[in-house]
Amino acid sequence: MSQNNPQSLTVPLIVAKKRAREKIVAITAYDYPTADLMDQAGVDLILVGDSLGMVVLGYENTTPVTMEEMLHHTRPVTRAARRALVVADMPYFSYHVSVEETIRNASRFIKEAGAKAIKVEGASKKRLKLVESLVEAEIPVMGHVGLTPQSIYHLGQFRVRGGEADEARRIIQGAEDLEKSGVFSVVLECIPQEVAAMITEKLHVPTIGIGAGPFCDGQILVFHDMVGLSAGYMPKFVKKYADLQAIINEAIGRYRDEVRSGEFPDDSRAYHLKPEVLDELLGKRRRKKAQVPAGQTEDNRGLRGNRS
Ligand code: KIV
Repeated sequence: MSQNNPQSLTVPLIVAKKRAREKIVAITAYDYPTADLMDQAGVDLILVGDSLGMVVLGYENTTPVTMEEMLHHTRPVTRAARRALVVADMPYFSYHVSVEETIRNASRFIKEAGAKAIKVEGASKKRLKLVESLVEAEIPVMGHVGLTPQSIYHLGQFRVRGGEADEARRIIQGAEDLEKSGVFSVVLECIPQEVAAMITEKLHVPTIGIGAGPFCDGQILVFHDMVGLSAGYMPKFVKKYADLQAIINEAIGRYRDEVRSGEFPDDSRAYHLKPEVLDELLGKRRRKKAQVPAGQTEDNRGLRGNRS
């Protein structure tokens, strides 16, 4: 795990990137092999997002995702991340009931799953108090304003937020309040780039944009979206850097056809008995010949095939 690695990125180092005007590269991950690839590629921050629910677990939105599911997927990511800072997303209703329950749930991501920080959505008065309590409990917090997917039943639909002055002002205020409450960075999701630029200018902590234009301090994308593994509608802010769906479809289709035709597995992929062992077994088989089902011989069952 990353705590033993002197190269590991910490919360203060991520914050320092804003002052140094170094863009922060963030991405979501939910398992060991992809987190390992991201870490090797030099990604700065890996978010175990509750987008897990939609892109991996097949839920319609993020609201059904549980604490246990999030912990289960955070553990392999923190095992893989030697350099990147791993942030775990608090799932819907894991931070909505009470401060005590929120701190208990948040601490599980740190103690049981190895995350270095957690993320919560929203900037209501109650949420700000919660953030203060988490920070006081020494749990680093990332905020999230703009489109907040956990509020889907409240909002009614996923769409760009902050297009009108009133809503834009509320989002800007929310980001500023989150900073005052102690967050170390804020995700800005699906807001006009002008609004994101204003927030980025005002805050001392970094903004991480997703569908928020180029002026944020960093960018994040959902891994499955950017490699073409997500099905269905894709918002325009997603850039597809690969089309893995097409590659995987082609591979599975070829495998299916080769199994059906008998082309796979060919002899190069088979293990063989040493001749003397085969002879010994066949000798035993001859003694038990009466048990070979009618119509089957040693030859047509592969026992006299290529022995290389
Ligand atoms: O759950 C998630 O993946 C997120 C990102 C979109 C920021 O919250």
